Amino acid sequence: MAEWVRLCSIWEAPAPGNAMEAEARGVAVCLANVNGTLSAMDNWCPHRRAPLGQGTVEGEAVVCPWHAWAFNTKTGIADPPERAKVDVFSVKTDGDDVLVQLD
Ligand code: FES
Repeated sequence: MAEWVRLCSIWEAPAPGNAMEAEARGVAVCLANVNGTLSAMDNWCPHRRAPLGQGTVEGEAVVCPWHAWAFNTKTGIADPPERAKVDVFSVKTDGDDVLVQLD
């Protein structure tokens, strides 16, 4: 059953236009801030396993730091012509905590 797990504090969360790596219950997560809205996805790029949390935010996508595949922060789907997808996690804040929903 899915449960909400603390990822970091709101003070550690990335500023708008940035992404970071974090870990919740052993799961590596890329936490991104798109125009003030936090989103969370699997940290490992499906291409060559680069850490997406070290990538950049462009528009509504996180761009992989190694070969620039861009993953939509809402769907996890890579921009064409790439055909890949990363898991996207629901994210919310609760007081000073940022939580992600994990299975
Ligand atoms: S490892 Fe992410 S695009 Fe290659």
